[in-house]
Amino acid sequence: TKPSSAAVHPLDPLSEVEIAAACRLLKTKKRLPDTTRFAFVQLEEPSKAEVMSFKPGGGCPRRAAATIFDAKTGVTHLAVVDLVSKAVTRWDRHDTTSAPYGQPPIIIEDFFKVGDIVKADPGWRKAVKRRGLTDKDIDLVQVDPFSAGYFGRDIDKGRRLVSAVSYYRENIKDNGYAHPIEGVVALVDLIAGKVVELVDEPEIIPIPKRKRNYNREAYPKTRTTVKPLDIVQKEGPSFTVDGWNVKWQNWDFRVGFTAREGLVLNTLSWRDGAKARPVIYRASITEMVVPYADPTVNHFWKNAFDAGEYGLGKLANALELGCDCLGQIHYFDVPAADDMGNPMLMKNAICMHEEDYGILWKHYEFRNDTFEVRRSRRLVISFFATVGNYDYGFYWYLYQDGTIQLEAKLTGIIQTAAVAPGKPYPWGGMVAEGLGGPTHQHFFNARLHMMVDGETNTVTEHEFVPRPWGKDNPYGNVFDVTSRPLVTERDAAREADGRTGRYWKIVNPTKKNSVGNPPGYKLIVTPSPLMLAQEGSHIRNRAGFATKHVWVTAYDPAERYASGEFPNQHAGGDGLPRYISKNRSIESTDIVVWHSFGHTHVCKPEDFPIMPVEYAGFMLKPNGFLAENPGMDLPPDRNAASADHRSEGGAAGGGSCCCD
Ligand code: CO
Repeated sequence: TKPSSAAVHPLDPLSEVEIAAACRLLKTKKRLPDTTRFAFVQLEEPSKAEVMSFKPGGGCPRRAAATIFDAKTGVTHLAVVDLVSKAVTRWDRHDTTSAPYGQPPIIIEDFFKVGDIVKADPGWRKAVKRRGLTDKDIDLVQVDPFSAGYFGRDIDKGRRLVSAVSYYRENIKDNGYAHPIEGVVALVDLIAGKVVELVDEPEIIPIPKRKRNYNREAYPKTRTTVKPLDIVQKEGPSFTVDGWNVKWQNWDFRVGFTAREGLVLNTLSWRDGAKARPVIYRASITEMVVPYADPTVNHFWKNAFDAGEYGLGKLANALELGCDCLGQIHYFDVPAADDMGNPMLMKNAICMHEEDYGILWKHYEFRNDTFEVRRSRRLVISFFATVGNYDYGFYWYLYQDGTIQLEAKLTGIIQTAAVAPGKPYPWGGMVAEGLGGPTHQHFFNARLHMMVDGETNTVTEHEFVPRPWGKDNPYGNVFDVTSRPLVTERDAAREADGRTGRYWKIVNPTKKNSVGNPPGYKLIVTPSPLMLAQEGSHIRNRAGFATKHVWVTAYDPAERYASGEFPNQHAGGDGLPRYISKNRSIESTDIVVWHSFGHTHVCKPEDFPIMPVEYAGFMLKPNGFLAENPGMDLPPDRNAASADHRSEGGAAGGGSCCCD
C-alpha cells in the first residue's frame, strides 16, 4: 500500500480541488444566488470509448456533474462543468412543475429545517398537545423529513415536499423511534417553508413511553464471555493500491464513488495467465426503495428511495477501525460536496480488507492417504450509509475462484407505529407493548454493465425441465437444462423461479472457452418476492424496477438509475420500465444487466431496539469462463497462528496443508 502517485484516471472520483472548482465555476458563470443548494456533485463519467482508450499520463477528460436547486424558488438544474476548459457545458432546467414532476433529493439541511418549520406551526403544536405533550416536550421532539412520495393529488404537484413524522424524546439522547406520535403528519413545503397540510386524527393513540435506548448506558451489564478475536497479518495484506486502482490475487479494478450510489467498482478484470480478461465495466447499486404496507395516515405514503431521494454516497459513514472493519484495513477517503457546494473529505468512507472464508477446495483420498485442502480468502470492499432510521451496508466480495458477490446488510432501527393499549396491530408485527412495526419490503437494484471478454455480450436463460418417459429416458431419471438467449429488452424483463432453478448467464458469443462454448458468468439470484403493492398503485408505478428480478438493456450512458433521474415525488414510469420500452436488441452487444433483489420484512420483537443484520444479495460466478478451478495454484501453507486448544499454547507452527 503506497500513497496515491498515480496520474489521474478518467474514472477517478473528483478530487476536493475539482469539486471546489466545479462549484465555483457554476456559482460565478451562472451567477447563482447564495440560496443555491448542491444536491449531488460527482464525476461526469467519460464515454466508455474514452476510458478504454486511456493511456496513463496521456491526460483525460475531467467533467463534474451537479444536480442543483434554488432553496428559495425551487428552480432545479442539471449541470455539467468541463474542468479542463473551465466551461459550463450543460445547463438544463429540470421542470419540477409539470408531469411527471420529480424533485432533487432531500438534502442534509432539510433534516434540520423541517423540525423548525413543523414546530412553528400552530396546528401541529395543537395536535401534539392533544396527545399530552407540553411546550417543553415539543422542544425535544424529533421530526423526520420523510420523502413524501406522489399520490396524484393537486397538493403533490410542483411543490418540493416532505412528510414530517414525529417522535417524543424525554432527552436528546433518547431513541425517538420507541415513541412515535401516531395520527399526526405534517406535509411540509420546503420552498415555502410551511406546513401545507396537516393530518390530525380524531382518535388519540397514546405515545408509547417505555424507553428503548440502545447506547452503552442503556446496557451497562455486558457479556463477560467474549474474548478478543484478532485478525493478524504480520506481513500485511495481499493487495496493492495505487490511487483508486486495486490489485488483489488475479483481480484488478478501480474503486469509484458517487454521491447518489456510493461505492462503484470500475473496469473489473481477471488475470488469466498473462492476459487481463474484462468481466464488468461498471458495477453499482443504483437504487433501494422501501414500500410500507400499512394503510393508515402515518404510513401509507412511506416508500423512501434511499439512493435517488437521499443519496447513499452522501450519507456514507466514517468507518471506525477495529469496529466496522477488522484486520489490516485500507480506507479510501472520498471527496464530496456539501449542500452549499463546498468541498469536504468523507474520511474512511470505504473500507477494504481481506477475510478468511473457510475452505475453497478440499479432498481426502483414503485409498492413498492424499490430503489436500486450501483455504478461501475474499477481498471485501464496503461502505455503510445511514438513511434516517435504517443503516445499510454494501459489501462487494471478490474471491480467489473468480466469484463476485454483493451483500447488502440491513440494520438500524425499524419504522414504528404506536398501537392503542390492548388492541392488535393489523399492519405488521408487534415489537413491544404499544409498539408495532409496519410490514414493508426493501428492494435493491444492482446495475451491472457487463463486459465478459469484451463488449459483445448476450444473456441466456436456463431452466431445469424433467424429460418425459421414453426411449431416451427409460429409467425416468433424465432432466434437461434449457437454454435460450434473451433477444430484446422487453423479452428480458424476467422473474426468478426457484422451482425450475431458473438462472442466467452473461456470455460472449464471439469467443470460445476450453470446451468450445462461449465463456460466461452466471448470475445467481435468490428468489424473493417482487413488489407486492397492487398494479396501478402509485408506488408500483414509481418503483417499476421492483416488479422483475432481472432486466437487460442495451448500454446507453444516459440510463444510469433503476428508478430514473428524479425519483423524489416523481409521478412514475421512469427508470427500467421506460428504458426497456425502446425494446432494443440485446444480443451480442454492449449490455447492462440490472438485478432487483430484496427482503420482505415482517417486524418482530428481536428487531428492536436495533435490528440484527439481515442479508440480501446475489453472486456472479465464472461459468465456462476459466479452463479449470483457478484456485488450484494456491499455496498449501498451514496457518501458523492456529492452535490446538487442548494443548497448552500449542501453535500448529508452519508446515503445509497436505500430506507431509
Ligand atoms: Co426492514
